[in-house]
Amino acid sequence: MKKVVLSGIKPTGIAHIGNYFGALKPAVEMANNNEYECYYFIADYHALNYIKNSKELQENTKALVCTLLAIGMDAKNIVLYKQSDVPEVTELNWILSNVTPKGLLNRAHAYKAKVEEATVNGQDPDALVNMGLYNYPVLMAADILMVNSNFVPVGQDQKQHVEMARDIAGYFNKTYGANFVVPKEIISKDLGTIAGTDGRKMSKSYNNTIPLFAPEDKLKKLIMSIKTDSSLPTEPKPLDSAVMNLFKLFATAKEYETEKAKYENGLSWAEAKTDLFNMMNNYLSPMREKYNYYMENYAEAEKILARGAKKVQAVARETLQRTRIAVGID
Ligand code: ADP
Ligand code: TRP
Repeated sequence: MKKVVLSGIKPTGIAHIGNYFGALKPAVEMANNNEYECYYFIADYHALNYIKNSKELQENTKALVCTLLAIGMDAKNIVLYKQSDVPEVTELNWILSNVTPKGLLNRAHAYKAKVEEATVNGQDPDALVNMGLYNYPVLMAADILMVNSNFVPVGQDQKQHVEMARDIAGYFNKTYGANFVVPKEIISKDLGTIAGTDGRKMSKSYNNTIPLFAPEDKLKKLIMSIKTDSSLPTEPKPLDSAVMNLFKLFATAKEYETEKAKYENGLSWAEAKTDLFNMMNNYLSPMREKYNYYMENYAEAEKILARGAKKVQAVARETLQRTRIAVGID
C-alpha cells in the first residue's frame, strides 16, 4: 500500500515568486513522487474566511487552478481537486467538532493573533473572530483525515494545524475506536523569506510582489523597479541584494558562480537586472505558456478537476460511511 500525501492551498490571491518557491514548488516535487498516492486541492471553503466577494473568489480560483496545472500538478498520479467539490468534508467537519475540545482551538495561532489585535485596539477580544476562523483547524483536519493522509507537506506556518489534525484524530479514535489514520506534517525546508521589489518580504499585503506568470513586459518592468543601492555602475555589487537573491533561486550552481564573478568585479544594476530578467524569463516562459493556455481553455482545466473530484469523492464517501457507522448515524 502506498503512503498517502495530501496538501492544499487557499485561492486568496495571484501566486507570486515567494509563493512558488516557498509553497508551490516543494508541493509539486512531493506530489510528483510516484512512491506516494498524492492529493492536492484548492481550499476554497477555507478561503471564504478571507475573500468576501464572489467574483474575486471565482477569479482567484481559476487563476490558481491554472497556476497549479502550469507548474506540474497535472501529472498522472496526482489527484487535483477543489475542496468544495467534496462537500463530504463539511459533514466530517461537523462530526469531528464533537470530539474537539474548545481549549484546543483556543490555542490556534491565527485565532490568538486576532484576539491580540482586538485587545490592543481596546475592542472586545472576539470582535474580529467569526466561527469560520475559529473552526478553521477542524475543517483542515477533515480535509486531512478524509483521504487517510499519512503525510501533509506544509510550510512552518501550518505546522500547528497539522498537529491539531493529529490530536483530533486521536480524540476520535480514543472515543470510538481506531477509525482515522494519524497524520504527520512534513515541513518544507526553510528557504528563508524571499524579498519583494521594495526589499521587504514579498507579500500581497505589501504590494511588492512579482507575480509568477506576469507577462514578459510587466516582468521586466517589475524587475527594473527593484530597489538597489546607489553604488557606481563599475563598483562591485553586494551578493546579499534583492536582485542576486532572486537570481540565485532561478540559477543553476554554475550560472550562479558566473554571475557572482560579475558582481565581484563590478557591473551596473541595469545589467544585473537584465541578467535577472533573462534568467527568470527563460525559467518561467514554458510554465507561463501553459498557464495562459489553461486560462484561455479553462474547460480543459475543469475536466481535470472533475476527474480529480470523482476520484477523491470515492475515497471521501468510504471514509464518511465508516465514520457515520462508528458514531451511530449511518
Ligand atoms: P502572502 O504573504 O502574499 O499573503 P500567503 O500567506 O498566501 O502569501 O502565502 C502562502 C504560502 O506561500 C506561505 O505559506 C509560504 O509558504 C509561502 N510564501 C509566501 N510569501 C513568501 C515569501 N516572501 N518567501 C517565501 N515563502 C513565501
Ligand atoms: N491552511 C492551509 C494554508 O493556509 C491550506 C489548507 C487547508 C491545507 N486545508 C489543508 C493544507 C489541508 C494542508 C492540508 O496554507
